[in-house]
Amino acid sequence: MSAHSEIIVVIDFGSQTTQLIARRVREQKVYCEIHPYTTPFVDIEKKRPKGIILSGSPCSVYDEDAPRIDPAVFDSGIPVLGICYGAMLMIMEHGGRVAPASHREFGKTELMVLDTSGLFAGLRIEPPQPHQVWMSHGDRMEEAPAEFEVTATSAGSPYAALRHRDKPLAAVQFHPEVVHTLIGVEVLRNFIFGMCGCAPSWTMQSFISSTVAEIQEQVGGGKVICALSGGVDSSVTAALVHRAIGDQLTCIYVNNGVMRTGESEAVLRFFREHTALKVIDVDGVDFFLSELSGVTDPELKRKKIGRGFITIFEQHAAQLGDVAYLAQGTLYPDVIESVSFRGEAPIKTHHNVGGLPEVMKLELIEPLRELFKDEVRDLGLELGLPEEAIYRHPFPGPGLAIRIIGEVTPRRLEIIRQADAIFLEELKTTGWYRKVWQAFTVLLPIQTVGVMGDGRSYEHVVVLRCVDSRDAMTADWSRLPDDLLGAVANRIINEVRGVNRVVYDISSKPPATIEWE
Ligand code: XMP
Repeated sequence: MSAHSEIIVVIDFGSQTTQLIARRVREQKVYCEIHPYTTPFVDIEKKRPKGIILSGSPCSVYDEDAPRIDPAVFDSGIPVLGICYGAMLMIMEHGGRVAPASHREFGKTELMVLDTSGLFAGLRIEPPQPHQVWMSHGDRMEEAPAEFEVTATSAGSPYAALRHRDKPLAAVQFHPEVVHTLIGVEVLRNFIFGMCGCAPSWTMQSFISSTVAEIQEQVGGGKVICALSGGVDSSVTAALVHRAIGDQLTCIYVNNGVMRTGESEAVLRFFREHTALKVIDVDGVDFFLSELSGVTDPELKRKKIGRGFITIFEQHAAQLGDVAYLAQGTLYPDVIESVSFRGEAPIKTHHNVGGLPEVMKLELIEPLRELFKDEVRDLGLELGLPEEAIYRHPFPGPGLAIRIIGEVTPRRLEIIRQADAIFLEELKTTGWYRKVWQAFTVLLPIQTVGVMGDGRSYEHVVVLRCVDSRDAMTADWSRLPDDLLGAVANRIINEVRGVNRVVYDISSKPPATIEWE
């Protein structure tokens, strides 16, 4: 599906900043897609891209299995910007020379711009040059091909930027997509608007109208179901699909018994008050808690909850009759992570609702599969969802079951719910909730000694976990103020019976993960 009038394609050679390139282009209101370098060029051409960006790579162009690109890309007439590895490929394909750099550049570097047309239009060439850029390369361009001219240099790179004399080809050794490249946005804008002639027309409004039309075409008069979790992705998916097909959509919300305090009530109230969605509310508390009884293995907990969910969902969908489609909130990073940059087998496969489409033979509707998380939030606001729903922290499907280490019992659920509610309440009243990616408590399966009043206590340990992240792929522990941590610990120990110790998790991901199980 592609209803975009203008597309910039990023060809991925495996750089860690490939996604960042796409985000930067989209921030300029131009739609951008990432494709592995193994995609045949004829398939890229079919998309009629207005421009192509060749990403960086962890490889050296001299590696035996170094990724290459069909040289036809350079003669297609489509403007091409090569970044770092992509720049070296462009130069080598034109007869230039790349060699391991004697002076490797990693991090901030000073760039001297020599030419103020093309990529560097509007930038200064007189002092106060140089411009700060960010480099990360072991190889460097050593000899420019005859048809290219140098447009910028740096201390470690005599050919820090080049452009073709006649064709719309530009190469930069530095990374314009990284914030430390202070002229990065200007360079990308010059490529997108100057060299490619794009217009900044990809807005959330244009996305809504084209996606609504696509959903209407795909579904016709059919029935669609959507599993609502109360999270941002499923809420925005449901709101968008509802905008397209109204009451042909039925949503199903299942309380799996391992939700936070008051969560189910809040989610259902929210949908009633702020949307016109048809929601079937299923109380699965007893069913799930009996399924989880005696289970301590985290993967088994996940499986039991996933399977139980499918069973309940199937029952209710069957009652609706003739459901042909399942709407699901798959996001762009899920799509990209499912394909490695070599275009091979998936690194990770993603199923928001664990295997439902296969089991129920439903056709998928994934209207968010082109969007990054922050774009989904913008979309939700544009669709009229309240900020409170848009800025909710992610909450895993298996819920508190994977935050209670060991067996899930009613007593242990009560402890974690109370502790969790206190932590979130304090984060919200101090304004920290919106500053962090995710915050929650974990209940450990051990007891420790303490003193309470005049006696010894031997009670539970609660962990506070709070992380900063952009996309959950990597995360760092949040530097919460001492006073806040102290207040939370105090309240938990005083107010939650059965807890006498609170600890703060200061591990980053990797090597740890965000959740404990
Ligand atoms: P980890 O623990 O892998 O978590 O660093 C990354 C993000 O994914 C969430 N998460 C899950 N979400 N089902 C879900 O729907 C799961 O089984 C699951 N495990 C982790 C986690 O909360 C974090 O946002």
